[in-house]
Amino acid sequence: MQDTRKLYVKSFGCQMNVYDAQRMADTLAKEGYVETQDPADADLVILNTCHIREKAAEKVYSELGRLRKAKQETGSDTMIAVAGCVAQAEGAEIMKRAPVVDLVVGPQSYHRLPEMLARARDGKRVVDTEFPTEDKFDHLPAPSLAATKKRGPTAFVTVQEGCDKFCTFCVVPYTRGAEVSRPVAKIVGEARALVAQGVREITLIGQNVNAFHGEGPDGRTWGLGRLLEELAGIDRLERLRYTTSHPRDMDDGLIAAHRDLPQLMPYLHLPVQSGSDRVLAAMNRKHGRDLYFGIIDKLRAVRPDIALSSDFIVGFPGETDAEFEETLDLAERVGFASAYSFKYSSRPGTPAAEHDHQVPEDVKSERLARLHKVLEASKTAFDRSLKGRRFDILLEKPGRLPGQLIGRSPYLQSVVVTAPHLHIGDFVTVDITDVGPNSLAGRIVEDVEDQGRMSDRPLAAMEA
Ligand code: 5AD
Ligand code: SF4
Repeated sequence: MQDTRKLYVKSFGCQMNVYDAQRMADTLAKEGYVETQDPADADLVILNTCHIREKAAEKVYSELGRLRKAKQETGSDTMIAVAGCVAQAEGAEIMKRAPVVDLVVGPQSYHRLPEMLARARDGKRVVDTEFPTEDKFDHLPAPSLAATKKRGPTAFVTVQEGCDKFCTFCVVPYTRGAEVSRPVAKIVGEARALVAQGVREITLIGQNVNAFHGEGPDGRTWGLGRLLEELAGIDRLERLRYTTSHPRDMDDGLIAAHRDLPQLMPYLHLPVQSGSDRVLAAMNRKHGRDLYFGIIDKLRAVRPDIALSSDFIVGFPGETDAEFEETLDLAERVGFASAYSFKYSSRPGTPAAEHDHQVPEDVKSERLARLHKVLEASKTAFDRSLKGRRFDILLEKPGRLPGQLIGRSPYLQSVVVTAPHLHIGDFVTVDITDVGPNSLAGRIVEDVEDQGRMSDRPLAAMEA
């Protein structure tokens, strides 16, 4: 029996980091670590960092400063690890700038954490930012039943990592490396295990998820559409999603999956970044605005209830006022259900950072505010259009008031229902009665079916 140690993981950035944080926790659970929500109480703190924009990357140093102060004040011997994309990109610099850090681990080396921790406990400072030849997924343990239950009825599964697109603003091809797809059998195995533990909705994730080209059980290369079809065949896996996609990889097989698979939710995050052909070319996005409109037309033709979300960058080097107007125009034409917009942030080592015509900060701010207004208006219009609509929601967590539960709509909005007789993990059909800024209110029409609760199913025998 090992001693119980406490682990605190703080994740920044994208869903891949959320998934990775869970896999690190699963790995360390085998070493006797249990998770705590309080860093002061932890024997090991992991900062799972994001390098995508300067602000995100700088956060790690302020967090480390805080941790150093807390350690000094309490005299604790908490170990501190930095993981994620800042670890990958700036491992050596972190070690230099922050003596409080005991170990630095890049995203491809998480399976080596136990061994690295053993070395760190011997007083050595350890850095591992290699791209090892062994497959980390073969070495990362599956979550326990207790861990899956705690995480709720939705789960992420990584199908692909890395990116070969080299958009000129983006660090991902450097921090996460070349595109690698996992074999179909392993993904399906992971999905089946999660479903057996009560998961009802799986989001397939990857930096460039729809570029997935994994080895199929028939020896052929499968695209994402075929993979989704296979997963849709898993009994009790009621909902599928995938993120994040690139417009160039929305192939016909994937569009057909939106037509054919009722489990595939009618909601797609498809970053476009800019509405200007010239800027898109300078970003090396490998497509123009017409290709983007064309994909949306195709998707809406096969799945009229599909809604879209996107990412935008304003103030890319050299972006003119007229080019920015084209972004506003694209946003207005598509009518996104939701979207993220960012000021361009110059990232060391990327081609756009070398560009002579950087856009002044105040111009970027002004453009961001204008775009934000357009995107907010279309989000509000979309939300309002849902009033009176009927759909199924998957109940995910308790609400604020007794008897309330919060579920997710097909479009990922929170829907609050009063349902004292229902449980987390149940599906229920609701009519949307009210639309607020952060959530919708639903009135229950009928309980779709008790599809196996996370809370009281006798599944203990299935735990590994
Ligand atoms: N500056 C601003 N935004 C960026 N993104 C990626 N790199 C940068 C950058 N250098 C945004 C893109 C991407 C999202 C995850 O982050 O919009 O889709
Ligand atoms: Fe970055 Fe472009 Fe790859 Fe997306 S497609 S991860 S924006 S390089």
